[in-house]
Amino acid sequence: MCGIVGYAGSAYAQDIILDGLKRLEYRGYDSAGMAVLDGDRLQVRKRAGKLARLVESLTGNSLPGSLGVGHTRWATHGEPNETNAHPHLSADGRIAVVHNGIVENASQLRHSLEAEGIVFRSGTDTEVLAHLIARHYAGNLPEAVARCMREAEGAMAICVVMQGQGGLMVGARRGSPLIVGLGDGEMFIASDVPTILSRTRRVIYLEEGDICTLRRDRCDILDAAGAPVERLVVEVTFDSAAAEKEGYPHFMLKEIHQQPSVVSHQILTYAGDRGGHISLPGLIPLYERMESLNRIVIVACGTAWHAGIVGKYLIERFARVPVEVEMASEFRYGDRVLDDRTLVLLITQSGETADTVEAMRMAKRSARCTLAIVNVEGSTIAREADAALFTHAGPEVGVASTKGYTSQLSALALFALDLAGKRNVLCEEELCVWLDRLRAIPDMMERCISRRDAVRNCARKPVYRDALHAMFIGRGFGYASALEGALKLKEISYIHVEGYAAGEMKHGPIALVTDALPVICIATRDAVHSKMLSNMQEIKARGGQIIGIVSDGDTAGAELCNDVFFVPECPAPFSPLLAAIPLQLFAYYVADALGRDVDQPRNLAKSVTVE
Ligand code: AGP
Repeated sequence: MCGIVGYAGSAYAQDIILDGLKRLEYRGYDSAGMAVLDGDRLQVRKRAGKLARLVESLTGNSLPGSLGVGHTRWATHGEPNETNAHPHLSADGRIAVVHNGIVENASQLRHSLEAEGIVFRSGTDTEVLAHLIARHYAGNLPEAVARCMREAEGAMAICVVMQGQGGLMVGARRGSPLIVGLGDGEMFIASDVPTILSRTRRVIYLEEGDICTLRRDRCDILDAAGAPVERLVVEVTFDSAAAEKEGYPHFMLKEIHQQPSVVSHQILTYAGDRGGHISLPGLIPLYERMESLNRIVIVACGTAWHAGIVGKYLIERFARVPVEVEMASEFRYGDRVLDDRTLVLLITQSGETADTVEAMRMAKRSARCTLAIVNVEGSTIAREADAALFTHAGPEVGVASTKGYTSQLSALALFALDLAGKRNVLCEEELCVWLDRLRAIPDMMERCISRRDAVRNCARKPVYRDALHAMFIGRGFGYASALEGALKLKEISYIHVEGYAAGEMKHGPIALVTDALPVICIATRDAVHSKMLSNMQEIKARGGQIIGIVSDGDTAGAELCNDVFFVPECPAPFSPLLAAIPLQLFAYYVADALGRDVDQPRNLAKSVTVE
């Protein structure tokens, strides 16, 4: 996934573009570049590596001009070097393009262009777009972009500037997000809202197929059919400070600490501070179908898929509706049997994950009901799903999802309880009891965070910090926590980590247990607690180094551990909300002790908007 930002106005474009790229760097950081028009002179600067390299190249050697585009890259086609960095130019150097997405038919188009004598400079699919636009240009840049979009296949958001166009830039979106910012005598284009929030709060979320032409004082939009269209201008409410570190060394640590208030605010929003009433206004479009539902298919990726496993256990536990959980990348290419009593529930923090977007569209094409549990309002999934339940976690910048995950868990708990009430499986009094138990969770999360020093001291021990492999195991709700804890540690420390259902140990994984293998056991008190203790005894007997996530006061469990992170005792259905905290902190402190780039781990991006 890459980040795009464009500016047309009267200020110094380079500085505005750099500020935007700094806010976009979480989307990809293999390379960065910009193209700036100074009158009729188009200049390009790009560097491989982090944005700091580009900033360094501009120090004392800046690019004058008040119109330009910038890009930060997560490489899909072509290695992450300076040649492959965006922007890419047409053969005559007059057209510059930045792009987020994948041109699926790039190789065919490249061969066709090469047959016309075009000599490619890079190994990217994006350069094909620059040459296509040049091929189609006959005096009207938006028209040339439209023809290019019709010929190129795949998901893409692009922004184009050209010499001799008198201060205009053109943007287009299909399958990747792109927004327009309306300033005072200046216009912006960007991959997301926080990128331009310091300059304007008035935004337009471009729709699929839209092509916009921006000058400093006007915005013209054509829809997918090429007809002029007026899009809704939205006044954005959240503030740009929310997307800053606020004194924490990393966004991830800040976002871990935000979780109790995020979950508390969400519960208050949807269920108040007392009683058994739940109000999920986003679900109103589904209400008349909720009662006839006889199956739910949860579809998601990564951490959101782990939340989906918890969601399955919650919905089946409370509402007694059968639930399947699918990885979006499998679901979208599978030949699934869905009928009109099936609800497809998409879980996604960004609302832009390519596989989840296409899974939703596939479900809608077969006329199934789709509900999104999503954080980013205005995102593709939030706008296209039949209904949306917002997690209200605020911007999550750290690539490793933390508050995005726990806010999904609390939203799933509220959804499951609401469904149970609507299906008369739980009465108002029972709902009140369960909601009061859920309302107590944020304080317990706060207590887990207050115990961070014990986690940090443990994470710094060489037996864990320097481990080459590790394993996380759990049962029931603890199984999902084990999967999520494994992913957290894996993606930011680069240690090879596996998450397993503890009951599976004897079916193979226990062969890996030695005194060099840390095994993190989710062993909070629940119906399968004694089974977990048996697993831990078997691991201990073989020399495994056990870190236990154990309920306060559970001395039997603690005795089996080399190190233990205590969490307050809570009802099993809500235990993943507590277990997540020490698991996130453990991953964070191990990665930090290893000197990893915690907020921007190698090879990853915050939202995977390409397959
Ligand atoms: C989680 O820490 C990862 N960053 C990743 O697995 C993420 O959860 C996944 O890409 C799904 O993203 P989404 O929730 O924005 O759809």
